[in-house]
Amino acid sequence: MRILFIGDIFGRPGRTIVKDRLPEIMRGHGINLIIANGENAAAGFGITPALAEELFELNIDVITTGNHIWDKREIVDYFKLIGGNGHGPARRVLRPANYPSDMPGSGVYEGMKGKTPYAVINLQGRVFMASNDDPFRVADQLLQKIKAKVILVDMHAEATSEKVSLGWYLDGRVTAVVGTHTHVPTADERVLPNGTAYITDVGMSGPYDGVIGVKKELVVGRFLNNMPVRFEPATGDVRLCAVVIDCDEDTGKARKIERLMIS
Ligand SMILES: [Fe+2]
Ligand SMILES: [Fe+2]
Repeated sequence: MRILFIGDIFGRPGRTIVKDRLPEIMRGHGINLIIANGENAAAGFGITPALAEELFELNIDVITTGNHIWDKREIVDYFKLIGGNGHGPARRVLRPANYPSDMPGSGVYEGMKGKTPYAVINLQGRVFMASNDDPFRVADQLLQKIKAKVILVDMHAEATSEKVSLGWYLDGRVTAVVGTHTHVPTADERVLPNGTAYITDVGMSGPYDGVIGVKKELVVGRFLNNMPVRFEPATGDVRLCAVVIDCDEDTGKARKIERLMIS
């Protein structure tokens, strides 16, 4: 089985490059399952139900998120729609699983791709981020209940040490641990000794002619004068960052992880 994981889709530039380039990536790499982090889909801040469904129409199966999940309030009502529909679009948008348990939405999804059961877990780090439940122990609890062998974890976190640690902690228990949130891809992709594919950060799918997606003059200005400023997405040098994970669908072990950066 080949899984494509697309890093943080940022604003219209990110959505457009994903739409334009996804068909050829799917064909070229024989992709079976597509997961994307969509926390920045709405002009960099959050995701609306309409944008989520636009991404699902591109053949994306599951959308993960992170700290920006509540930026667009419509997403709260969307999560409340889930009701009895365990596989509808609202159910396939995740928020980090280690948020307080009574928050709307879910941090784990279990589905079928063809005849292969799979699961996606979304977690958020705690170093230099809001305090949430322990992502390591929440992963333990979730893994006790998941029956699928093919399991992908999106670890949305700031600190490289926390992400690398989670990779080692889950090695052999999940197919892949992929990092998101910093919007800068790292060159450390590898398959760990017990069969878990790992990368510290997949990188952003969006405009690189800026500061992690935002117009550079706005962010540089904020560092210079500390004045509040409304951030707007940058537009230039748009790239799609993703990883392709090849795995054995019977055991869930990863064979290979390949990093992609497409402009
Ligand atoms: Fe992000
Ligand atoms: Fe983030």
